Amino acid sequence: MCGIVGYIGSKQAYQIVVKGLKRLEYRGYDSAGIALYDGNNLNITKTKGKVADLEAAVFKDDNTHGSIGIGHTRWATHGVPNDVNSHPHYSNSGDLAIIHNGIIENYEALKQELKNRGYVFKSDTDTEVLVNLIEDVQLNEKVSLSKAVQIALNQAIGAYAIAVFDVKNPSELVVARLGSPLAIGVGEGEYFVASDASPFIEYTANAVYLEDGEMATINLSKDIEILKIKDGAIVDPYIQELKINLEQIEKGGFDHFMLKEIYEQPNAINDTFRGRLLPEENIIRMEGVDSNIKKFMAAKRILIIACGTSWHAGLVAEYIFEEFARVPVEVDYASEFRYRNPIINKDDIVIAISQSGETADTMAAIKMAKDKGAFVFGVCNVVGSSISRETHAGAYTHAGPEIGVASTKAFTTQITVLALIALRLAKEKGSIDREQYHYHLYEMEQIPKKVQEALGENDNIKKVAEIYKDAEDFLYLGRGFNFPVALEGALKLKEISYIHAEGYPAAEMKHGPIALIDEKMPTVVIATKKGHYEKVLSNIQEVKSRKGKIIAIINKGDTVVRELADHVIEVPETREAFTPLLTTIPLQLLSYHIAVMLNKNVDQPRNLAKSVTVE
Ligand code: AGP
Ligand code: GLU
Repeated sequence: MCGIVGYIGSKQAYQIVVKGLKRLEYRGYDSAGIALYDGNNLNITKTKGKVADLEAAVFKDDNTHGSIGIGHTRWATHGVPNDVNSHPHYSNSGDLAIIHNGIIENYEALKQELKNRGYVFKSDTDTEVLVNLIEDVQLNEKVSLSKAVQIALNQAIGAYAIAVFDVKNPSELVVARLGSPLAIGVGEGEYFVASDASPFIEYTANAVYLEDGEMATINLSKDIEILKIKDGAIVDPYIQELKINLEQIEKGGFDHFMLKEIYEQPNAINDTFRGRLLPEENIIRMEGVDSNIKKFMAAKRILIIACGTSWHAGLVAEYIFEEFARVPVEVDYASEFRYRNPIINKDDIVIAISQSGETADTMAAIKMAKDKGAFVFGVCNVVGSSISRETHAGAYTHAGPEIGVASTKAFTTQITVLALIALRLAKEKGSIDREQYHYHLYEMEQIPKKVQEALGENDNIKKVAEIYKDAEDFLYLGRGFNFPVALEGALKLKEISYIHAEGYPAAEMKHGPIALIDEKMPTVVIATKKGHYEKVLSNIQEVKSRKGKIIAIINKGDTVVRELADHVIEVPETREAFTPLLTTIPLQLLSYHIAVMLNKNVDQPRNLAKSVTVE
């Protein structure tokens, strides 16, 4: 997976492309490159490393000129991250330049055929094969670039979002997508292409999102022409108006996107509620659920599929749905679900959760569920994302762009959406009594304020982080609704600080992990009053008797755990089902501070990428 950006118009492309790449670095950041055509030469600069390294390389060679340009920030799939394997790649003649996000699965066979015809390859990438295949078609069949792209893509198997141009016709850029996202920004006499709209929102609010299997020829004198790759059928471009603004995707005074996004949670949750949570009217209004209420009511089971943090949100939802809506729920990793032979019944509802809406495993699991006849409901953050379009219906989380690779506000807003759905169904079914329903709606409305209060513990959390930043292992324990929060807390620590951490249901500790406990091992315990408080107290005692250190997440004013624990972090009280929305906050901050103190790259942790668009 990677980020792609392109520009064609009358401005200098360099600044636009490089700035765009920085916004897309969340998609991959092991190498970067740019190709610009200055009217005489095609200048390609590429380098292992970040976009900042690319900038240095470009300036060294003074390769910044040209009003057509394409750029790439890579997360390698084929060939190690090095200068040669970085994109853009160019064809043997040196005329075509391409950027690619995705995988050409049959690249070996295609490469062999091309080699037999005399083509030589410099890189190990699948992408270089594709650009030469396009050139081969163009030369052999004497067709235009766009026709050659169409023919070549019909021979390629796999996934792609590509942008390619030919220096012989520098007023044209050809793009295509299948399985990887691609948006086109439509300006006045200029066009932008990118993996998402963030690189061009300051230039235009008008965008065309290509659908899977579509390609577009962007010609400065002819506008955009969209075709189906398969049969060349013409598609009318649908230009939509974007709602995101620049401020939403910049750091706004915070040191890192992750911290900004942690602090955005009160607002983000409010945005998730907007127009949906209406306690005064005693209703929850959700278009995607309301218009499919019969299907939801008939559901004998809900299957939730997701990956990573979104999977944790699914686990929390399992507790919430079963509690309120009294419908059995199963939660599966999308990557496991898609390769099992899962039993999907006619009356099952599949809920797919994904921040990015681009996760390949989740997408494949959705397609499989649809093939088996299931009704699939999406919970996505990115508007217009592939998953949001692939699902039958859905509800957006409206958390705003999440740039930090470690998911924070996406998680709490996913839980919020899922809790709204569960309560909406509970009311319809009568599985919650009127009074309880009413209380829950009012309490939900208080959550943003309570999240804000939880954020107030930041300084205290920082002190705890200072004490334990050098620990080699952490254990996270929680029960009931907060068991998935323990998993999420451990994942956050692992991914940004590279400290080994495990999340466990607190009671399960005695069946194994307790052997790990000694005076060096910190255990983070979620010990809020609701639920299994007494039981968690016993679990804390068990850790203490083995000299383990306890960092406890407690409710304000709890003196019992305060006595027992080495450190406490307070969160306000709320209804049990909503506690994950509060207990998650200190765990996010704890991992953040530890990672910063260890000098790790918080927003772009090693080996990871924001959207995992490969298997
Ligand atoms: C979380 O911090 C991760 N970076 C990761 O687990 C993420 O949640 C997962 O890749 C799923 O992504 P999605 O929600 O965009 O589908
Ligand atoms: N398969 C291409 C490569 O390895 C593109 C990878 C990507 O989408 O990040 O270069």
